Amino acid sequence: MTALPPPKACDFHGLPALALSAPDGACAIITLHGANLVSWIPAGGAERLFLSEKAVFDGQRALRGGVPVIFPQFGGEGPLRHGFARGLPWEVVGARSGEDYATATLLLNDSAATRALWPHAFSAEMTVLLSGNRLDMELEVANSDNRPFSFTAALHTYLRVKEVENVSLTGLQNQRYLDQTRKGQQETDRREALVVDDEVDRIYLGVTNPVLLSQPGGIAVAMQQEGFEDVVVWNPWEEKCAALPDMPKDGFRRMLCVESAAAAKPVALEPGDTWFGRQTLVAL
Ligand code: BG6
Repeated sequence: MTALPPPKACDFHGLPALALSAPDGACAIITLHGANLVSWIPAGGAERLFLSEKAVFDGQRALRGGVPVIFPQFGGEGPLRHGFARGLPWEVVGARSGEDYATATLLLNDSAATRALWPHAFSAEMTVLLSGNRLDMELEVANSDNRPFSFTAALHTYLRVKEVENVSLTGLQNQRYLDQTRKGQQETDRREALVVDDEVDRIYLGVTNPVLLSQPGGIAVAMQQEGFEDVVVWNPWEEKCAALPDMPKDGFRRMLCVESAAAAKPVALEPGDTWFGRQTLVAL
């Protein structure tokens, strides 16, 4: 049998990246900056991730789009807002292709820069695996310190949509959520489907069901998670989008973030222990 070509190093808007392609036609690009999966095209399909045309590729800031890795802090303000992992260079530690898949693993260890912001020794690995119409993304965090630490995290997935007002998100009915547009007030979602026609910023708690994003024309994505307890649904809508310098004015219409997160309840890790959270997307 001939050896399959491994994922290839490439350049993405000036950032070092890795291009993965599975023999079945599925392909993806992950930048080393932030271990951000900036493109995912399932076999026989079209691009499923949103990346802002005003995203800044300066190797410093987080990219507006793709799947930024949020660690070790979800939300908040200041330099630790949404963590530092999304703005740092990761290292490729594994990449291979098989008969019907391609996979890569990127690693981020603590450094003087991370310890200045968060005083802990850790090791984080982001693994992506694509095959056919399926994408698995897994974040693994190990405590390499000699004392316990806690963190919050997320895979901040920006899904590309044709027109956000026509999207319906199901699987969250009767789920409790924290409404971040109302100071984190707790609510219960009674609607069968979430329709986005205004700003949405919710942390749905303890989600175990799959979530389905459907659009007219039959383009849908199913999302399932393991390890992550929460699902964050975010769309900034018109006014907040206009305030984001790295988003075009109408960018909010073409995206919906459906994030797998450990946001409401921090993950506590003892020295030597590891935790993982996985988000699986299936293009339908
Ligand atoms: C979401 C949060 O995860 O990320 C929102 O729930 C936040 O509150 C959004 O506005 C974007 O954050 P940032 O830091 O990438 O602009």
